[in-house]
Amino acid sequence: MERLQKVIAASGIASRRKAEELILAKKVMVNGKVVSELGVKVKDNDIISVDGQPINREEKVYYLLNKPRGVITSTSDEHGRKTVVSLIPESKRIYPVGRLDYDTTGALILTNDGEFANMMMHPSNEIDKVYIAKIKGMLLPSEIMQLKNGVMIDGIMTSKSRVKVKKVDKSTNTSIIEIIIHEGKNHQVKKMFESIGKEVLKLKRERIAFLDLKGLNSGEYRKLNHKEVSKLYVLAREK
Ligand code: URA
Repeated sequence: MERLQKVIAASGIASRRKAEELILAKKVMVNGKVVSELGVKVKDNDIISVDGQPINREEKVYYLLNKPRGVITSTSDEHGRKTVVSLIPESKRIYPVGRLDYDTTGALILTNDGEFANMMMHPSNEIDKVYIAKIKGMLLPSEIMQLKNGVMIDGIMTSKSRVKVKKVDKSTNTSIIEIIIHEGKNHQVKKMFESIGKEVLKLKRERIAFLDLKGLNSGEYRKLNHKEVSKLYVLAREK
């Protein structure tokens, strides 16, 4: 038995709070009867509908993919490009949690659990996203400080980040930088470097929280187990 608002949120149509509002607004039915108070528990085979539409109650699945370059982080693409979803043969309708650019590689989670996806993408959570960027040129100590303290991108200040210079190659005038952020704004890492006048030549997400790419070659994926999924919930909730 699970709480009704949790089941609605897990179906992906609303956050848990929004689900509570829907219940209070008498928009939710269980087996054809309106439920208007919070705290009601439902069974696996109860039919739940919101605004007259039955919700999807299929088993939840979670994947970690090592995204290759040249694949779009989307469920479909109008230009016919390969999508991350097409790399995983799964009959359930899964979708990516957050986004990696077409030319960015590395760790990407895919799931059919809407509540989990919302939680992972919520800006208040402090889940580490570890990126390795190959950039043109080198970073001055003052530029490292700027990145660490936050820079303006699209008129918004980024939160604090952790930055480490991993390697400097004078012969090719490039550097390898590790940058750890919690947010997931559009093209965030590239724009952060751009804001200090540096171009990102290559970008890889090496880790999401404790999920690294060990054992996963480019294009390979694995299922996350229950323990890993609950650990992510715990990390996203504690701040
Ligand atoms: N930041 C970017 O600029 N691109 C990505 O794909 C991910 C983070």
